[in-house]
Amino acid sequence: MAIISTFCKKGGVGKTTFIGYLGHYYATLGKKVLIVSADDQNSIFKIFGAEDKIFEENDNYFEFLIAGHAELGDVLIEVRENLYLIKTLNTDKLSMELTFKRAQEKIIKTIFEEYNNFFDYVFIDFPPSSSRLTEILLDLSDAVLIVVGLDSLGLNGFFNSIQYFIDSDLDLDRIKYIVPNGYSKNKRAPKTSLEKLKTQSTEFTPNAVVLPPLQDKSIIKNIQDMGISAFDVVELPPYDRANKELLEKDLKNLFNLIKI
Ligand SMILES: Nc1ncnc2c1ncn2[C@@H]1O[C@H](COP(=O)(O)OP(=O)(O)OP(=O)(O)O)[C@@H](O)[C@H]1O
Ligand SMILES: [Mg+2]
Repeated sequence: MAIISTFCKKGGVGKTTFIGYLGHYYATLGKKVLIVSADDQNSIFKIFGAEDKIFEENDNYFEFLIAGHAELGDVLIEVRENLYLIKTLNTDKLSMELTFKRAQEKIIKTIFEEYNNFFDYVFIDFPPSSSRLTEILLDLSDAVLIVVGLDSLGLNGFFNSIQYFIDSDLDLDRIKYIVPNGYSKNKRAPKTSLEKLKTQSTEFTPNAVVLPPLQDKSIIKNIQDMGISAFDVVELPPYDRANKELLEKDLKNLFNLIKI
């Protein structure tokens, strides 16, 4: 039972990709997994080729649960065996309400406690923007993983995330892992960025483990466009299959280093 979040105050660095694959990997190991989208783009659905589920007519958004119009089970959307998603409708509006109605904060905490009792892992996928909801959910998280893109803008994202934790009075020790993403063996920029990130992490998040970098792999975008997760067992043309197998192997090695 653990609540794990991926966070970074920079868009498009791989937060959703990483948490989606980590969640799916744990589900393939027989764990019961829930991924809550705190991003009303709900891009986590794309990782599992389930975008059609975002705009279903059902009243099954996270917000309906808070408003008391749905039960805990009603908002769960099963996308794979042992793996469920929850979508959000309008997190800006929810954050406004949370700022004005303190009681709602308690409702959110209770909801997460209840899910945490039922699931082995509850993951939260954050957008790059932040709000009152972000603060509350980060505060509920047992572990935060900061995903960092390996270029100069990506490093800014790391700094801004640290700054955000400090400004919001969030405990930096909650950051358990740093996930460098987009490493390229033959390019200089990602190498330099990785070295800088390691130095800066030692200074600002000394208790966090910097994971080995996830390579820049075009297969990720290809399979996401096909609606296939890295841990799906599917027929693919030989070239794609070989690349997907390599990705799976890299991800497993990486995920086995995460001890939560
Ligand atoms: N290691 C990688 N190699 C190649 N492409 C990647 C890699 N990681 C992520 N991507 C691609 O980068 C894009 C952004 O990834 P993703 O949506 O996971 O980022 P994000 O941080 O969640 O973005 P947002 O801030 O919008 O929520 C996606 O198209 C994804 O397929
Ligand atoms: Mg995302």
